[in-house]
Amino acid sequence: MICRGNRLGQRGRRFLNPINLFILVVSVYLAACGQEHPGSTIDPVTSDHGSAIQSLYLTVFWWSVLILVVVWGVLAYVLIRFRERPGGPEPKKTRGHLGLEIGWTAGAAIIVILITIPTIRTVFRTQAEPGADALVVEVIGHQWWWEFRYPAENVVTANELHIPVGRSVDLRMWSADVIHSFWVPRLGGKRDLNPLVRQPEGGLPKVNRLKFTVDEAGIYSGQCAEFCGSAHSLMGLRVIAEPQADFEEWVLRMRGPAAPDSGTLAELGRELFMQSTCVACHAIEGTSARGTLGPNLTRLGARTRIGAGLLENRPENLAAWISNPARFKPGVKMPGVAEPGGGLPPTGLSEEQVEAMAVYLSNLK
Ligand code: CUA
Repeated sequence: MICRGNRLGQRGRRFLNPINLFILVVSVYLAACGQEHPGSTIDPVTSDHGSAIQSLYLTVFWWSVLILVVVWGVLAYVLIRFRERPGGPEPKKTRGHLGLEIGWTAGAAIIVILITIPTIRTVFRTQAEPGADALVVEVIGHQWWWEFRYPAENVVTANELHIPVGRSVDLRMWSADVIHSFWVPRLGGKRDLNPLVRQPEGGLPKVNRLKFTVDEAGIYSGQCAEFCGSAHSLMGLRVIAEPQADFEEWVLRMRGPAAPDSGTLAELGRELFMQSTCVACHAIEGTSARGTLGPNLTRLGARTRIGAGLLENRPENLAAWISNPARFKPGVKMPGVAEPGGGLPPTGLSEEQVEAMAVYLSNLK
């Protein structure tokens, strides 16, 4: 016993050498030291949905802490009270104890009930029908980008969901290909987007819904949360919650005529865009581009990021994306200058033509 104890002690001392201790302390510190938590589920923004889920999470968390403290407390007591002592008596063995059996069965049942009640209440709260004035947005998942349609506003956009603060939003979601999952951690909730299933004559296709009201203006990051192919991890989105007046202004701009071209380079870019295969997939409001297979590019220049959250929206990034989108997103269904994509041949654009197109698209604000 003594030899074994010494061996264990030596091993323990070897593991807890100063370098390992330093790495351990620094890792724990680094894991908690970030100031920004754009993808945190436990730092919800003021929204009815997020607050409901956070309050449920805290309820379950504190129950777990209580259980942990009780179990560890009993364990520590037993370890100390009944530890082996030289010459000490054998501890009394207990086999079958009705009181204990009833105690831990009833105790566990009561805890489960106390967690079930707030859980069911949260399910009903988050599934409640939104008010009649709710903003309806159709969310369609594609490999690997998001389409947002506002039927009442007659607006279609991609990857950045604009919503007004203080007004309930009713998202109706489905997928154009495989299963995706809409997840904006700080708004709470996560919903799968399933391919539409054909319904019997006259039946409406079933869609998943997510309803919430955000009370705090800001930009909230989201991510597809269901594995959907090679670029699943690159299928990001952003929710832009803004005051009602700003939202209305955005809707008007989205519906208005395309911004006039500024300069000859942008003009060249527009001509190239309208003559190339781009229009087979992309639409730009106010122009002859009417494609629906790819993201709608109306007011693309006003978006914060491009490529479904991939790159900052700057003309040089846009040019790099147009030149070779597969470099940034493997499997992307868009051809590059030299690579085919989505069943379309390479665009064969020159460097100058790519630049002109990037300037044109960046100017669409
Ligand atoms: Cu879409 Cu993962």
